[in-house]
Amino acid sequence: MPQITNKNTKKLIVFNWKMNPTSLEEAKKLFALILTPKTSALPAGRYNLKPNLVICPPFIYSPIFSSVSGHQSSVKLGAQDSFWENSGAYTGEISAAMLKNLGVKYVIVGHSERRNYLGETDEMINKKVKSALGAGLKVILCVGESLKIRKKAKKVIKNFIKNQLQKDLKGLSRVKSQKSNVIVAYEPRWAIGTGNYCQPEDALEIIKFIKNFLNSKFIIHNSRVLYGGSVTGKNIKEYLKFKEIDGVLVGGASVNQKELKRILNII
Ligand code: PGA
Repeated sequence: MPQITNKNTKKLIVFNWKMNPTSLEEAKKLFALILTPKTSALPAGRYNLKPNLVICPPFIYSPIFSSVSGHQSSVKLGAQDSFWENSGAYTGEISAAMLKNLGVKYVIVGHSERRNYLGETDEMINKKVKSALGAGLKVILCVGESLKIRKKAKKVIKNFIKNQLQKDLKGLSRVKSQKSNVIVAYEPRWAIGTGNYCQPEDALEIIKFIKNFLNSKFIIHNSRVLYGGSVTGKNIKEYLKFKEIDGVLVGGASVNQKELKRILNII
């Protein structure tokens, strides 16, 4: 197996607001918290982080954020999904090209809530990954096992994740230049929104497995792998302390003002 390598020393912290908050007023308050001069300047912290922050609000709030966040800011705009065609008769969808034109830099693809509630398949996710990369976005691809699989042997869990990666990244091994733009988020389904987070050592083991797999199968060196699932101000440090865990994807805690402040203070 090739060595795990990672030239990216900065941690990546992604805030996924999901379908929150319900008003523009509240969204502005959250943006303001994140964009205060203190956090925008982001002094190097105890992990030599000076992290890159990515905010993924609902589409409807994105233009407001893109107008207030400067190009030089270490806070970037992300999206929670994008469609696989650039334009056309696809009612209700938003394309990667539209996001790119708005100043969006990152897009989450294959989130388990979309796989679960909207029936997104690996084939659809694969098309979305390719179109987002083609539009020049960085993709945050979410993979992770269900509780049923979690209860099985580690080998079964790893096989499940390997299978998801193979299908979701199918056809990418030949497109060399797009490799570093793929970020994987290991998000065990049972840990998302449940408060039941994955033990950091367990997450580390799977993340090392994902890196080794990407390096060998897809020749993706230096690809970042994050952890996501019930990350809060209380446990975030436990993930960030490992050099192999390149960052975290925070859902519920990133729309809770108290938790958000706590997280911003830590990082
Ligand atoms: P959570 O969500 O932090 O609320 O568990 C994580 C996610 O959005 O993937």
